[in-house]
Amino acid sequence: MKNKGRFGDYGGFYVPEVLIPVLEELEEAFYKYYKDEKFVAELDNLSRNYAGRPTPLYYASRFSEYVGFKVYLKREDLLHGGAHKVNNTLGQGLLAKYMGKTKLIAETGAGQHGLATAMIGALLGMETKIFMGTTDIERQSVNVHKMKLCGAEVIGVEGATGTLKDAINDALRYWTGHVDDTFYLFGTAAGPHPYPTVVRHFQTPIGIEARQQCLDNIGRLPDIIVACVGGGSNAIGIFSAFLEDKDVRLVGVEAGGEGVSTGRHASTLVAGKIGILHGTKSYLLQNQEGQVFDTESISAGLDYPGVGPEHCMLKDIGRAEYVEAEDKDVIKVFDLMCRLEGILPALESSHALAYLMKSKGKLSSDTVVVANLSGRGDKDVGIIESYRKVTKG
Ligand SMILES: Cc1ncc(COP(=O)(O)O)c(C=O)c1O
Repeated sequence: MKNKGRFGDYGGFYVPEVLIPVLEELEEAFYKYYKDEKFVAELDNLSRNYAGRPTPLYYASRFSEYVGFKVYLKREDLLHGGAHKVNNTLGQGLLAKYMGKTKLIAETGAGQHGLATAMIGALLGMETKIFMGTTDIERQSVNVHKMKLCGAEVIGVEGATGTLKDAINDALRYWTGHVDDTFYLFGTAAGPHPYPTVVRHFQTPIGIEARQQCLDNIGRLPDIIVACVGGGSNAIGIFSAFLEDKDVRLVGVEAGGEGVSTGRHASTLVAGKIGILHGTKSYLLQNQEGQVFDTESISAGLDYPGVGPEHCMLKDIGRAEYVEAEDKDVIKVFDLMCRLEGILPALESSHALAYLMKSKGKLSSDTVVVANLSGRGDKDVGIIESYRKVTKG
């Protein structure tokens, strides 16, 4: 089991004894069902008619004019629930049903994964508990209301920062005591094996669709794919279809917060060192003594000190590049996207867009970039107002 679920030296299976059989049960169920005709048909039907796949690839002409190259947006923000998270919760939710589980638990940061889990809990008639840091409950309150409306119980977690790391700690702790009937619906392509593989699989439609849409609509593959990276699920979802296309640059954008030099950031791949957190070996933000770092970002969904193992491997082999975007640029590009395109991007997705804004004047006019618009920003309007008050921006 030790070498299972490795991406290079990363990933693996570092969990308490009690979780080993449940993770093995999950792995077995995943490989049993993910190609099963009935499972695939049921997931396909729900993906289309409940969630809204396929999502469009939109040419953002006014934003393109601003940056000086061609920008296409993969519109995951148009999915039910407002983010890519529903791709994964439908997949894992169905797995839970096929496995005979009756209860769901999940962690959430921005509340998008919590909401997507609460929706699927309602859809499948399963009792649902969502663990969420108290800081995030406050700053993402719109999603908290929505989760409760779907019948989920939202459990506040204090911890060191009241953010995603603390929520995962408590969800894992709760799971160890309730493994018999409870399915842990993990929200990103990180955590112990088999989650990085399972979540990646359920997010691959993003890349498969985007690749085909580029060929159909533009007549060629893009030059660059850009996606934000928290744990890494939307990024690996779109990157996965282009891994073999060596001429396509893959760029992941992390949360630079107020900048790495200030120490108030969450850029794991940019500034982390190898370590183990939440059952997986990955780049990890840690202090001199090896203690896990308290991250800080304007975007709750990227405010996490770890990252998925496949991204660590892609960084090491040079197949993908990882950069960071700072809060001030994220807010600036959020405004630009609203005013130029009438699209409110999630603060998480705005990190990917900030990379494009900063590339203004650096790429030739015929460069084609696809940015994964992982979610919509309605949930972030309050955060943006507070940010403006504090910075008088
Ligand atoms: C809209 C949106 N995009 C991106 C993320 C980051 O997660 P991941 O890196 O797993 O895609 C989140 C997390 O909450 C999110 O809500």
